[in-house]
Parts: sequence; C-alpha cells; structure tokens
Amino acid sequence: MRIDIISVLPELLESPLNHSIIKRARDKGIAEIYVHNLRDFCEDKHRRVDDYAFGGDAGMVIKIKPVDKAISFLKSQRKYDEIIYTSPDGEPYTQKEANKLSLKKNIIILCGHYKGIDHRIREHFITKEISIGDYVLTGGELAAAVITDSIVRLLPGAISDETSALSDSFQDNLLAPPVYTRPAEYKGMKVPDVLLSGNFKEIEDWKLQESLERTKVLRPDLFDKLSNNE
Ligand code: ADE
Repeated sequence: MRIDIISVLPELLESPLNHSIIKRARDKGIAEIYVHNLRDFCEDKHRRVDDYAFGGDAGMVIKIKPVDKAISFLKSQRKYDEIIYTSPDGEPYTQKEANKLSLKKNIIILCGHYKGIDHRIREHFITKEISIGDYVLTGGELAAAVITDSIVRLLPGAISDETSALSDSFQDNLLAPPVYTRPAEYKGMKVPDVLLSGNFKEIEDWKLQESLERTKVLRPDLFDKLSNNE
C-alpha cells in the first residue's frame, strides 16, 4: 500500500513514521509512505502557501493553487482510492475506518491547518474528511500520523504475530483483556492463577470474560454496540 502525505510541516511527521513497526513495514516494502512539502508546489519565490481570508476574518488560509498542483501531480502518477483531509470537523475516526483504509492501494492525506484551507479544496478535491477526536490540534500532521500508523500496522506482515492486530482493543468493539509477564509474583502482587494453569480453553474463556467486563465498565457505549450487534 502507498500513502502520500501533503503537509506544510513535514518535519512533524518524521519521527512517528520512522520507528518501530511502521519503519519495519516501510523497510520491508509493505508500506510506501511519502511526505510532500506543500511549499515545493508553490511557484512564487517566497514559497507562500497561505494568504489573507476573504471577508476579513483573522488568520491566513492555505491557498488552493499549491494544493491543486500537489494533488494533480500525484494523480498524474497513479490512481488514488481516497484523498483524505484531516480536520476536527471530519468524520470521527474509528477502528472500522482504519480496517477499510488498510484495504486500499493508494491514498493521499492532506494535513489540515489550524487557520483553515480554501474551502474549494474540500469541496472539489477531497473524498473523505477525518477527525481523530473532539479536540483541536495545531495542525493535521499528528492526525495524519495517527491515521497512517493505525492503517500500516494492519497490513499483512507488518506485525510479526499477524493474529495480534486482529485481537486489538476495538477490533470487535471489545477492549483487550489485561496482559502480564514474568515474574508471576512481584511484591505480593500475583498474576491470575488461570494464566499459569496451561489450560488453553480456560484461559480463552477468562480473556473473553475480562474483555466483556472491562468493556462494560470502561466503555459502556461500545458495550451497547456489542449487545446490538453493530
Ligand atoms: N486538525 C486539528 N485538530 C484535528 C483533529 N481533532 N482531528 C484531525 N485533524 C485535526
């Protein structure tokens, strides 16, 4: 899968996309991720990506031309399945959406900007707007990193134990059960006996019960979806 990210602050995306599972997926060729600096698509010598807002509102707005040039350049190279814009007024992002996006071949993510972008871009170029939560970030770069991370880890071969991505919290609207490692007892704090029993069936039953209990207590909204088979 290929993800092209267009940003005015590409430096912000460097670290999150160059470590751990995402880095390994890139190194193995499972995910191709390219970050493009919007300024590279400006024609004026000052490489200005923003301008004053019509109507006298405070703050500068990202111009349509460099965005058009960036998206048109990418689209001239290959077909894109989705052109995403990150914004707090987009659709709330969920695991279900991450699963869907992980099945696409090529996507573009245009990072939002705290001062806004010319609305014609959203109307004419963007196929999907995503919010990663009901709070406002200074820009869409961190949201783009979150979206990219959540997609790439789902790609076949990205995680060495390929069953583990499927048993994540949220995959079935269920929170994951607690996990433990050695020592089995630490300063009187014990790992639940069942996990040491070696009885696979009992362990699986225990995990499911814990998942259900944690979901009911911590995320009653997800638990309701579960009961309604959503
Ligand atoms: N840009 C600023 N805030 C955002 C959010 N919550 N989600 C996605 N993009 C954003």
